[in-house]
Amino acid sequence: MAIKIMGTGSALPEKIMTNEDMTQLVDTSDAWIRERTGIGSRHISTGETVVSLAAQACRRALENAGREAAETELLLVATCTPERGIPCAACQVQSELGAARAVAFDLNAACAGFLFALHTAWAYIEAGIYRNALVVGSEVLSKIVDWTDRSTCVLFGDGAGAVWVERSERGGIRGFVQHSDGNKGAVLQCDSRELHNPFASVPSQTPYIQMDGREVFAFAVRQVPACIQEALEQAQMTVQDVDLYVLHQANKRIIEGIYKRLGAEPEKFPINLDRVGNMSSAAIPVLLDELNREGKLKEGMLLVLSGFGAGLTYGACVLEW
Ligand code: COA
Repeated sequence: MAIKIMGTGSALPEKIMTNEDMTQLVDTSDAWIRERTGIGSRHISTGETVVSLAAQACRRALENAGREAAETELLLVATCTPERGIPCAACQVQSELGAARAVAFDLNAACAGFLFALHTAWAYIEAGIYRNALVVGSEVLSKIVDWTDRSTCVLFGDGAGAVWVERSERGGIRGFVQHSDGNKGAVLQCDSRELHNPFASVPSQTPYIQMDGREVFAFAVRQVPACIQEALEQAQMTVQDVDLYVLHQANKRIIEGIYKRLGAEPEKFPINLDRVGNMSSAAIPVLLDELNREGKLKEGMLLVLSGFGAGLTYGACVLEW
């Protein structure tokens, strides 16, 4: 028996912010942003939350899979921007959906979060603990972006994507790999609440994204192709066997670097970051949903999903649609 994605859904905030709008806030230009990143616009929350976006994406994934919320046994939300420390976003989504039976919890592996959550769902289902899962990536990154820092604020967007996963007769996940490198954590980070109690306090922290863009770029272009190769070997497949590479949408130049290193055809690498920016854990499921609804994912197609980002974390998954 295989474990397969049977439905997809996504949700984006209504407000679209163009590069031109960005020039009102920081010293930048549409040309600079497009040339260095490929991004043209992104959706920014004017009140939509990680939970409301996730719940909407889940409703659409359930409808697409022909399933009811009440059937959900496992609900995983990958996010690094939850509204609350407690309760977790997944429990709030469970309540909004009425998925009373589901076991719900969050998982944070930044831009690799959705992929790590998908692999977690696979492990639970493979072990026979649950029969199905809703796996979600949801982010409101606009609240942790420093809107005075032109080197980061132009990169990110808000949104959510979800998939319904269950056992299937054929197709599904054929192999996956995951990696973490905590020693490189400082190249992309965002502080949380400060320690402030009767016995201790820590110096003021910076609750905004701080990034060494060049280091992140070099990491992605070097590690992601190697990681994809590793997952393909596990699935006993080659680069040429793959029909589509659904990669984390961080930067068009990173994606170019990856297909060049792999020796793969550029047209196998769909891109939507020009319209949505980098949505961290939401990037892969939103792109999957777009491809699915456009009818570009045919049964039997071979896909590689790959996520990478803060942690550092990175991984790849090979699956048959
Ligand atoms: N508009 C105009 N100029 C900008 C700018 C902006 N939005 N952001 C930075 N610059 C300037 C810098 O200040 C610098 O100016 P200087 O030469 O006068 O000092 C110049 O552009 C070059 O900056 P640099 O950081 O060297 O540019 P870069 O070519 O490395 O591109 C990134 C910057 C962020 C686009 C690139 O490093 C990148 O994409 N890294 C990966 C980031 C990422 O994807 N992170 C998430 C991973 S999940």
